[in-house]
Amino acid sequence: MVHSEKLKTLLAARTQKVRAFRGMIKHEENYDENEGKNNFTYGEATSIGKQQILNYIKKDIPSLNGKFLDIGSGYGKLVTFIAEQTNMFCVGVEINQNMFEISEQICWTHRRDKIHFINDDIRNLPELIKDADVIYINCVTWNPKLVSAIFEQAEGIIYHNHLRALKLSNGKIWDYPGEPAPIHCSWQEEDQQYYRLDAKTFKND
Ligand SMILES: C[S@@+](CC[C@H](N)C(=O)[O-])C[C@H]1O[C@@H](n2cnc3c(N)ncnc32)[C@H](O)[C@@H]1O
Repeated sequence: MVHSEKLKTLLAARTQKVRAFRGMIKHEENYDENEGKNNFTYGEATSIGKQQILNYIKKDIPSLNGKFLDIGSGYGKLVTFIAEQTNMFCVGVEINQNMFEISEQICWTHRRDKIHFINDDIRNLPELIKDADVIYINCVTWNPKLVSAIFEQAEGIIYHNHLRALKLSNGKIWDYPGEPAPIHCSWQEEDQQYYRLDAKTFKND
């Protein structure tokens, strides 16, 4: 096969995966371009919260190898921290162009080669979700349809703060958020309710 044909085949396969993923977000409703876009209220894990996340990862993956994904990585500080503290390849996906650009600008670290920031909507990147060993997602205000699609797509461990019950693409209601894994965040003195969810629990349901 000539090079351009191979590329076309690859691109077509990718488009199909993205369509299938977006289909999971849509469920039975009519597709709406804004579906899955979120409330953009900003907040982030503090230095205390980052250390808590690191301690959780140390228990899940003692070798500290593999892939870490921050969905909605904001200014990229957590991604940089995890890259510095582990051997993991760390990816941050951020829909907001301004935040993405700042994350690139302030990423001063000896581990730069283990970090990749992407300016995109996570709805376009289902493979990244599937590929990650650990996913962190600060999604308390997010559209439940997007969150349920992300959970269903994942194969690793997810740390999240989505508190509502989710409707899966097979119509089932999923109301088990996982084991409590509190994380300190910028918007309050107290640790926030986060959960550790092993994506296998979705697959075995
Ligand atoms: C609450 S902040 C989290 C910042 C950082 N991850 C932390 O917790 O330290 C959530 C971020 O998700 C981004 N976001 C919202 N919807 C998104 C989407 N569909 N794809 C990628 N990023 C998204 C927002 O722009 C915002 O910067």
